[in-house]
Amino acid sequence: MSHALWGGRFEGGLAAEMVPLNRSLDVDWRLWRHDVRGSRAWARGLERAGVLSPDEAAAIDGGLAQVAERLEALPGPAGLPDEDIHTVVERLLTEIVGSVGGKLHTGRSRNDQVATDFRMWGMEAVAGLREQVAALVDALAAKARTETDAIMPAYTHLQQAQPVPVAHWLLSRAWPLVRDLKQFGAVADECRVLPLGSGAVAGCPFDVDRDALAAELGFSHVSENSIDAVSDRDWAAKLVFAAALTGVHLSQLAEDLVVFSSAEFGFVRIGGGFATGSSLMPQKRNPDVAELVRGKAGRLVGNVAGMLAVLKGLPTGYNRDLQEDKEAVFDSVDTLAVVLPAMTGAVAKLEVVRERVAGARQAGLCATDLAEHLVRRGVPFRESHHAVGALVRIAEASGRELTDLTVDEMRSAHPAFGDDAAAVLAPAASVESRALRGGTATAAVEVQLQALAEALREA
Ligand code: ARG
Repeated sequence: MSHALWGGRFEGGLAAEMVPLNRSLDVDWRLWRHDVRGSRAWARGLERAGVLSPDEAAAIDGGLAQVAERLEALPGPAGLPDEDIHTVVERLLTEIVGSVGGKLHTGRSRNDQVATDFRMWGMEAVAGLREQVAALVDALAAKARTETDAIMPAYTHLQQAQPVPVAHWLLSRAWPLVRDLKQFGAVADECRVLPLGSGAVAGCPFDVDRDALAAELGFSHVSENSIDAVSDRDWAAKLVFAAALTGVHLSQLAEDLVVFSSAEFGFVRIGGGFATGSSLMPQKRNPDVAELVRGKAGRLVGNVAGMLAVLKGLPTGYNRDLQEDKEAVFDSVDTLAVVLPAMTGAVAKLEVVRERVAGARQAGLCATDLAEHLVRRGVPFRESHHAVGALVRIAEASGRELTDLTVDEMRSAHPAFGDDAAAVLAPAASVESRALRGGTATAAVEVQLQALAEALREA
């Protein structure tokens, strides 16, 4: 027999067709620990407010401890008749302690209760994700430290642009994750506002100390408006957005790995355990880890649209639509919790194939440096850019590379080329010449690594 919490004014039970639509237990089951913890705190709050006698409060508290034991022993919600996790907890409590269990819900509604449970869950989930993101940043930094002297082409428009250390590329994929860490931190801060004590929508008439409740349950503030408190899911929307943006960042790194591990590039080799073979083609080594991560970003992005669509157009106060808030959040957190460790492992095991990276560099990769050589000799950049463009044309027309041209040929395009002009075409020289903060020089990359470690500590 189900134990609906709202049966008094109704004659019959819920229509059979309504039961599956109404039921959220299979989704909110994972909130049971938070529901029990919040309920125990609420019972103590009611006691301090003089609503429960010490004996009643002790009976309820002991009963809730037993409820937790029973729920711990269950494999899941399958077979339970209840509509949601709050109903399960109260039904079991009443079975265990009798009618005094019915006093627990005094001054409380499932509206402020679920908002509280969900935020408690959110705080824990975000803490877990932050650790996983930090581990990936660490893995990228560790890999970068081993690749400071390998020089690859940096790309714009996926065309070779200028030389950079492989470390610089790896670190370019770490910084977005540091921003994600900060964003998750902001979400966790927003989570720490306690709705409990807001009742269904208009607050609680009993003198419960909300600040004490907040402190006991790990919240830093109490909500300031009971209507807002029961309907605010901004933190949840921001969590799914933060998760989606992290997913996008992971997807971009994944795309790099797919492209760079292809035969045509061959810059990296996906480590054993993270690549898979083909059931048909014996020679295949597929970058499945990267493709799966890239694919998972799709659902993370979809969850943002789903969440915002649920919230859009809700009228004032609590609305049952809000029951739909949890699936998106749980799915985004679960998805990232699977994706992040896999990507961290793949990065740790990633092999950079230095010969391929070096061999791929086009001779014209340092054409910009040649133009800058003229700039150092007083030529306006527009003019030097034009002169080097002419040299590229001369080289192409004679089937040679920029690096094959003689100084005299260079001077035919512009008289200001110095005897040492050819030296700037060496990728290592180009890399070292960009020594400003954020640049490619060995010393700048060293500073960057330190800055990343510092940012990680701060985040
Ligand atoms: N299962 C509901 C949810 O997840 C709990 C709140 C229900 N409130 C109500 N008045 N029916 O949001």
